[in-house]
Amino acid sequence: MRLAGKSALITGSARGIGKAFAEAYAREGAMVAIADINLEAAAKTAAEIGGKAYAVKLDVSDLASIEAAVKAVETRTGGLDILVNNAALFDLAPIVEITKASYEKLFSVNVAGTLFMLQAAARSMIAAGRGGKIINIASQAGRRGEALVAVYCATKAAVISLTQSAGLDLIKHRINVNGIAPGVVDSDMWDDVDALFAKYENRPKGEKKRLVGESVPYGRMGKAEDLTGMAVFLASEDAEYIVAQTYNVDGGQWMS
Ligand SMILES: NC(=O)c1ccc[n+]([C@@H]2O[C@H](COP(=O)([O-])OP(=O)(O)OC[C@H]3O[C@@H](n4cnc5c(N)ncnc54)[C@H](O)[C@@H]3O)[C@@H](O)[C@H]2O)c1
Repeated sequence: MRLAGKSALITGSARGIGKAFAEAYAREGAMVAIADINLEAAAKTAAEIGGKAYAVKLDVSDLASIEAAVKAVETRTGGLDILVNNAALFDLAPIVEITKASYEKLFSVNVAGTLFMLQAAARSMIAAGRGGKIINIASQAGRRGEALVAVYCATKAAVISLTQSAGLDLIKHRINVNGIAPGVVDSDMWDDVDALFAKYENRPKGEKKRLVGESVPYGRMGKAEDLTGMAVFLASEDAEYIVAQTYNVDGGQWMS
């Protein structure tokens, strides 16, 4: 029960990696807001997890929605101790085909969503005066660029950079900001990723996913559950002296 009595909000936690984080946080004793743009799916996930989880409607690209979600958490639990910035979108295209609409959509969710969610959480934590933990979900895609993945890679590099700046700024309030850079994780998102690679690299469906899994030093793609240990650790008191870091949890893909 490393998070007993804590109040957590996890963005994009109706499914995938965020859902696994929510399950782990609830097991460790935290109250968890399943905050997602898909309220119906969030409510289903909260019901599956049980007593400690509840659904909150959240669009991280909308400032009013962010404010309302933080307020809902404060009202329900008396404050916010842990934020996980997990919601993100993926897209893929060769440089010559990238559209402004795709660029704006990804940056508004992955970057602005992370920054302004983090800002709203920090304001709440500072007002409460008891510190907090903020965990940003980056990606190995933020460690170096990749042909076809320019925009998503750039958003995740920005998440790593924001983690550094916010971490350095907020530690004086005893708010630890750190990040996790997953490698390739077998989730619904990766099914969409595989379909996009199939289109642009002219591959049969499922081939990219298989090749990517085989290339991981550990020997397989990650599972959402592979990330929960780090997510719980960074949210716990054991991480008190860790500031502005982004940790690779990727089966050995990167060493930065
Ligand atoms: N799956 C991977 O291989 C992988 C690898 C590295 C990093 N990541 C990162 O991990 C995180 C979770 O990935 P996943 O695979 O579970 O994704 P996913 O697509 O399965 O889940 C994302 C969730 O975010 C929600 N969401 C989307 N837009 C939103 C918005 N504007 N506001 C609030 N919620 C919104 C969706 O409804 C969904 O529930 C993301 O930050 C992703 O970039 C994933």
